[in-house]
Amino acid sequence: MCGIIGIIGDQEAAPQLLEGLKRLEYRGYDSAGVATLSNGNIDRRRAEGKLFNLQNLLDKQELKGTVGIGHTRWATHGRPTTNNAHPHATDKVAVVHNGIIENYVEIKEELQQLQYRFETETDTEVIAHLITHYLTQGLSPQDAADKALERLEGAYALAIIFSGEHDLMIGARHGTPLAVGYGEGEMFLASDSYALAPLTKKICFLEDGDRVTMTRHKVRIYTADNDNVERPIRITAQSGATTGKGEYPHFMLKEIYEQPAVIGDTLNSFINPSTGEIALPDHIVAAVDKAPRITLVACGTAFYACMVAKYWFEQIVRIPCEIDIASEFRYREAPMPDDGVCIFISQSGETLDTLEALRYCKREGQTVLSIVNTIESTIERESDLILHTLAGPEIGVASTKAFTTQLTTLACLALALAFKRERIQEEERQSYAETLRHLPKLAADILQYDAEIKFIAKDIFQSRDMLYIGRGVMYPIALEGALKLKEISYIHAEGYAAGEMKHGPIALIDENVPVVVVAPSNDPLFDKTLSNVQETVARGGKILLFSDQNGTKKMSDITTWSVTLGDVHPFVAPILYTIPIQLLSYHIAVVKGTDVDQPRNLAKSVTVE
Ligand code: G6P
Repeated sequence: MCGIIGIIGDQEAAPQLLEGLKRLEYRGYDSAGVATLSNGNIDRRRAEGKLFNLQNLLDKQELKGTVGIGHTRWATHGRPTTNNAHPHATDKVAVVHNGIIENYVEIKEELQQLQYRFETETDTEVIAHLITHYLTQGLSPQDAADKALERLEGAYALAIIFSGEHDLMIGARHGTPLAVGYGEGEMFLASDSYALAPLTKKICFLEDGDRVTMTRHKVRIYTADNDNVERPIRITAQSGATTGKGEYPHFMLKEIYEQPAVIGDTLNSFINPSTGEIALPDHIVAAVDKAPRITLVACGTAFYACMVAKYWFEQIVRIPCEIDIASEFRYREAPMPDDGVCIFISQSGETLDTLEALRYCKREGQTVLSIVNTIESTIERESDLILHTLAGPEIGVASTKAFTTQLTTLACLALALAFKRERIQEEERQSYAETLRHLPKLAADILQYDAEIKFIAKDIFQSRDMLYIGRGVMYPIALEGALKLKEISYIHAEGYAAGEMKHGPIALIDENVPVVVVAPSNDPLFDKTLSNVQETVARGGKILLFSDQNGTKKMSDITTWSVTLGDVHPFVAPILYTIPIQLLSYHIAVVKGTDVDQPRNLAKSVTVE
């Protein structure tokens, strides 16, 4: 699971490759490398750790050449060492790979018997040796690559260069995305259009099974049977601009603070400017409306958006709703209803499990609606219907503004459906629409609690374990709070439905395990949550409560810490209560001194299963 890039041009490739890798770092950042053709020979630089290590290395040991490939890695096979970093190379060929070669052990054994010496623990190294093997048998680079590709099982996007071949790069796509960029006298390959945008706007997305040979002036796309195929070239809407942190110390904090603006942008894209009413595209509302059931699927934080939406769709729209995490859904062979609609939610639009779940639903005849943030992503391109969250680029690995804009989009969709089905009466309709319109202002109000939350974070950052609890629509927010904390502070945290505490987790309670409660007092389940909190306190638990004035007052005797937020409509409470729990994780991580934006072992987009 990695990002790859290739350049065949007339300028020094290494600096351009490095810039491209910066834009692909969301796919992994545990090591990186580049290889070029220097005087016809393959030369490479690789470094363990973040990309700036590779940059430092290249500053000291320049890499010349106008043809090159680059890679940023999230380790699957083999530890994240320099030696295991891509490109993998022999004296004849260098390869970068995104994906997993499932039959690499078998190929490796065969090649070892032929006296090929392996130097890494990776699956990818077999590709370099296999192509080398066929080259030494006298095959041309394309025939050698094709013959090697025939042997590979699993998923791959590849970029390959050959020593002595100054005007050639070969690419292949099988289950993992790869795009071709067309320049004037230069050509490019990359995992996505975001990486290509500063190099060229003319882009074509390869389809599964496609192979490509590129020279500086010509691109040939062909199938495994060597038949030429045409793939549409489009002008990418991606901007070539990079995103900076501005005045913020971390992208995560910047993105938390951007929420009032991006929630506003997302809302405005779904509001009729003349009437101020929620107005989603009619064909999307009509498609979902006729479904007997909605299935919502996603991974990670995006899955918690599905969980919140289930409450909204079922309680307000009265449409049955099934939800699942993509990695389970894609293999459980769920029977799908006629006319069913499946909604896939993804910030990156590249998460492989979500994509495969989408493909399953398409095969099952479902209408596929995706809610994505990244334009031109694979999930967007394979969907029937699209709603965009307008969060802008999210760089911090822990999702923040993508989540709240996903919720905003789902809230608009739920309301549009409820209006269409006349589930909401006229006066209620006004109040719901009004509530949504005020969301950006309410989100901005919540940010004012930042200093207070930072203060509490200093009190609890040494905890080894934490629990987050909530009920109903606040339960997914408890799960999101626990996930956020785990991701960036490495504190063990669990989210629980408050009513479930007594079925196990309450055994964990003592004075060393802070329990975070998310519970607005106008939530219909507030009193029940209060009882669960009492049960926790009776066992020595220390409570950090996020509620409104009425709520914190009611629990004032039993809370150790509390944050009194403003009163909010229960419908938008899950969106707004997410913000303080993001801030809590952020400040805990900062006090602990972890890498907030690029936490260990994670990647922003998970492109392996
Ligand atoms: C990774 C990220 C999470 C994200 C999840 C789903 O685990 O670290 O922040 O929620 O993938 O990603 P997606 O791009 O599909 O929303």
